[in-house]
Amino acid sequence: MSLMEEVIAAVDEMPPFPQVVHKAMQVLSEPEYEVSSLVDILKVDQAVTANILKLCNSAYFGLPRKVSSLKEAVVYLGADQLRQLLLSGAASKIYEKPNEGYAVFADELWRHALATAVMAQVLRRHLRLKIDENMIFTAALLHDVGKVVLSAFVSDKYRAIEPLVESGERSFQEAEKEILGFDHAEIGAKIAEKWDFPPAIIAAIAFHHEPFRSPKEFRLLAELVALANNLAVMVGYGTGVDGLACRGHGLLLEKLKLGERDMEELLLLFQIEMEKTCDIAGVGNG
Ligand SMILES: [Fe+2]
Ligand SMILES: [Fe+2]
Repeated sequence: MSLMEEVIAAVDEMPPFPQVVHKAMQVLSEPEYEVSSLVDILKVDQAVTANILKLCNSAYFGLPRKVSSLKEAVVYLGADQLRQLLLSGAASKIYEKPNEGYAVFADELWRHALATAVMAQVLRRHLRLKIDENMIFTAALLHDVGKVVLSAFVSDKYRAIEPLVESGERSFQEAEKEILGFDHAEIGAKIAEKWDFPPAIIAAIAFHHEPFRSPKEFRLLAELVALANNLAVMVGYGTGVDGLACRGHGLLLEKLKLGERDMEELLLLFQIEMEKTCDIAGVGNG
């Protein structure tokens, strides 16, 4: 079996993305969703139901009385917090695996993914983009999912990738391609395909290091994820040597018309939102 075939086999073996979360995101995408249809989807999954009630009754919200009905909790939390809870719950299980090959702790990769998702969300709001919020959060959260699979296969080859990146000769992705013959963005897209995500999410994952190559109809989402990825690294949520690996960072800022003032505002907003999201996702921040 070639290395690529081995990796494809590993992609096939990955557990499916939780159907409950998939379905809930579809409902949450509607501008005026029916709470009862959301409850019907969520109540099937006991663990998800328990998590929603747990969050609602946590010290974070400090409610004066205990909420014990799922419907009440769904109404209380609202779309934004439910989205973060459901998606981060599903994604954390995927990311939090031993990640030796990439010389980062799984925890670091997971934090990077979460920071990228929060950054993308903040960018969307700041730029008032009309892209579905679930789509942005999902694509940004899963953009590096290819690394989870690759890490199992590259631990020996990693030693060859690192010096190439550290010397500044190659970007992380170029080094992966040179040493492995493929990169984590390509593999991530294959995983998203297997999980039946819409083409826009698949494209955003595939092109998160080279958004300008994305098919035109999905380019804005890919650019947003690419920029969010870079900014997350910039504010300290990076992963080992995979630093500012997206070429054309300046071009992205220019294209999205983001100046120094915008950046200050964005980064401030990011800190606030990141703290909230970490509380919701049950992750320690910092
Ligand atoms: Fe990446
Ligand atoms: Fe990344």
